[in-house]
Amino acid sequence: MTVSPPVYERPPLPRRISMRTIGWIRTNLVPVSMMKRRMSSSTSPLIQEFRQNPGGWRAMEIIYENARPKSLWDWYVLRGLPLSIEARNRRRFFVYTLSTWMKTIPESSPRRMLILGSGPALDVLEAMQTQPGPFDVDAVDLDDGAIVRGREEATRLKLSEQIAYHHGDVRSALRNLGDKTYNLISLIGLAEYLSDEELTDLLQELSEHAAPGCKVITHAYEDTFHSESTLSRMFGIKIHPRTAVHMSRLLNDTGFSVQEIEATPLGIYPMILATPAVQPATKTAPEVVPAERGTTSHVSQR
Ligand SMILES: C[S@@+](CC[C@H](N)C(=O)[O-])C[C@H]1O[C@@H](n2cnc3c(N)ncnc32)[C@H](O)[C@@H]1O
Repeated sequence: MTVSPPVYERPPLPRRISMRTIGWIRTNLVPVSMMKRRMSSSTSPLIQEFRQNPGGWRAMEIIYENARPKSLWDWYVLRGLPLSIEARNRRRFFVYTLSTWMKTIPESSPRRMLILGSGPALDVLEAMQTQPGPFDVDAVDLDDGAIVRGREEATRLKLSEQIAYHHGDVRSALRNLGDKTYNLISLIGLAEYLSDEELTDLLQELSEHAAPGCKVITHAYEDTFHSESTLSRMFGIKIHPRTAVHMSRLLNDTGFSVQEIEATPLGIYPMILATPAVQPATKTAPEVVPAERGTTSHVSQR
């Protein structure tokens, strides 16, 4: 099946400036207690979900679904927050990259995928529907609800033979997967929750599970709209901001070689594709020209 390139949400420049200004005001001038009070009485499903399980997969699904807002606040958190817009853009990039990979990989080649911090992996199921299989997917998530939801959806789509859901921490899950190797590994929506040390350990373990030519899909997190401090003060979420260069170095230091970096329109999630390095990891990270905000640009390719 043909795979169409992603159509991103690209707020025009005046809106990007106002989003940045609002982000600055929210971070520097509005008391947390006031924002918390406002949120406690909000009927927005996204706000309510964030209060119960901040940064969890259900909140992400609400953002992806992007249903008609129920109120002004609901509109703001769904469609006015740069992080929500960029989460949808990131998902579009991921589904497109996955579908394209599935289409181009020769039929005789193995199609083993490891999806870490997968949530219910609805994005992976969506890509699987665009191309003939069979695929062999291992999806790992800490949250039991994500596993249940994913299994239900896989069964409904008749894909349950091709995807196994594993409940647990990614680090212990890797040990349980034995010496299985993968042709594609995703850390989408997970890397920003791990410290450099945790990520380095994980990438080192992953290098043992990467088949030759394996595609690793991950991303950096650049706090271009002052979201990190709000998430931390309001919900106690610890996000680890990391530039594309920083993330590339972590990859290069753990046996991977960065192939491509693509900025999402608001520059929050530079998307990174890497592959196992043929030589021991001695290469330096590519110099990344900061992407012009508001454009999706192909920053570097080797
Ligand atoms: C922001 S959601 C992203 C879900 C999905 N990858 C996406 O992009 O929509 C982060 C997911 O990572 C899971 N997670 C966080 N830390 C984890 C860990 N150490 N091991 C396994 N899963 C983890 C959470 O349970 C959650 O479902």
